[in-house]
Amino acid sequence: MMTDTELLAEAEEARKNSYAPYSGFTVGAALLSKDGRIFRGCNMENAAFTPGICAERTAIYKAVSEGVRDFDRIAITGGRQGESGDAACPPCGVCRQVLREFCDPESFRVIVRGPGGSAESHTLGEFLPMSFGPDNL
Ligand code: THU
Repeated sequence: MMTDTELLAEAEEARKNSYAPYSGFTVGAALLSKDGRIFRGCNMENAAFTPGICAERTAIYKAVSEGVRDFDRIAITGGRQGESGDAACPPCGVCRQVLREFCDPESFRVIVRGPGGSAESHTLGEFLPMSFGPDNL
């Protein structure tokens, strides 16, 4: 059983591959599927700016494109390049919505760093209340 702290360490590994020359803010994500696989993602920026993508969406797009759609948790770490990601890096609004497409708001958990580098766990629903999802269509 992978602990939240271990999943954060996976996210920190993913963060090492971040390509963020424009913002200087590097982010890593580790998405755990229900069958125990880990999909890592990092943010990737672009000289044209708008094609850039967040670490969380990199991870979920990797998983879904490999045929995996059932997820348990995601861990996220971020911070200025070269600095440890000690402060919480909450997912941006767009990533919350993309997670919402595949993850149950009540049971899927988002792990971010808490005080002192600890692991803090919240439901997706806490991050995205009253969300619009597949059932609304
Ligand atoms: N970023 C992420 O990768 N995930 C987030 O949840 C917040 C923002 C990236 C996007 C951009 O490359 C950099 O962090 C600064 O916004």
